[in-house]
Amino acid sequence: MHFISPELELYVERHSENEPTLLAALHRETYQKIMQPRMLSGHFQGRVLSMLSKLIRPATILEIGTYTGYATLCLAEGMQENGSIDTIDINEELSSIQKKYFDLSPWKDQISQHLGDALEIIPTLGKTYDLVFIDADKDNYLRYFDMILPLMNKGGIILSDNVLWSGKILETPDPRDLSTNVLLEYNKKLKEDPRVETVLLPIRDGLTVSRVL
Ligand SMILES: C[S@@+](CC[C@H](N)C(=O)[O-])C[C@H]1O[C@@H](n2cnc3c(N)ncnc32)[C@H](O)[C@@H]1O
Repeated sequence: MHFISPELELYVERHSENEPTLLAALHRETYQKIMQPRMLSGHFQGRVLSMLSKLIRPATILEIGTYTGYATLCLAEGMQENGSIDTIDINEELSSIQKKYFDLSPWKDQISQHLGDALEIIPTLGKTYDLVFIDADKDNYLRYFDMILPLMNKGGIILSDNVLWSGKILETPDPRDLSTNVLLEYNKKLKEDPRVETVLLPIRDGLTVSRVL
């Protein structure tokens, strides 16, 4: 769903930073070869992620849901010089394209790819984080939040993607529509949880920024 007209989207994109060459190539290859390319953050949201990361200057970043690695590379742009990124994805068919583009980037030695279920991998990471991007299966968003909150450094930022779920959060969901029901509960929790301060930005499919108090 487009929340703003395609013309306005184009205008916004044209008046934001250009997409870096490496990311444009990854964007192209994802659309040519990988299933469900709309999962990739894309030019405008990618520049938003890059800008947020540059403002935060995180030393440690965790991404839940790598897909082809587009957002990983956007978040890496703001990372401190000796920083590190852990990124998790359950789909092993994506590992080679992720590695190809991570290796072509300036951060190839700072990115750790983790293959498997994020719910199993997160407890094994043994780190604390300045920036976390939650962008995997929506059904588990509440579990991801509960798992990562104790791992967040004070003042750390949790970004959550797709929280507007193509506008479905305004409808009365079918009880069997787990993703929509979870996202409704998730958005309410982020607003009410006194451990975080939250703003929901209507960017693309909805991107929440939560600062850990
Ligand atoms: C929306 S895509 C991520 C897009 C990427 N962050 C970007 O912006 O370019 C979601 C990804 O989450 C992965 N995923 C789904 N369930 C998962 C799980 N339980 N653990 C880890 N990854 C999962 C999928 O394989 C998919 O690649």
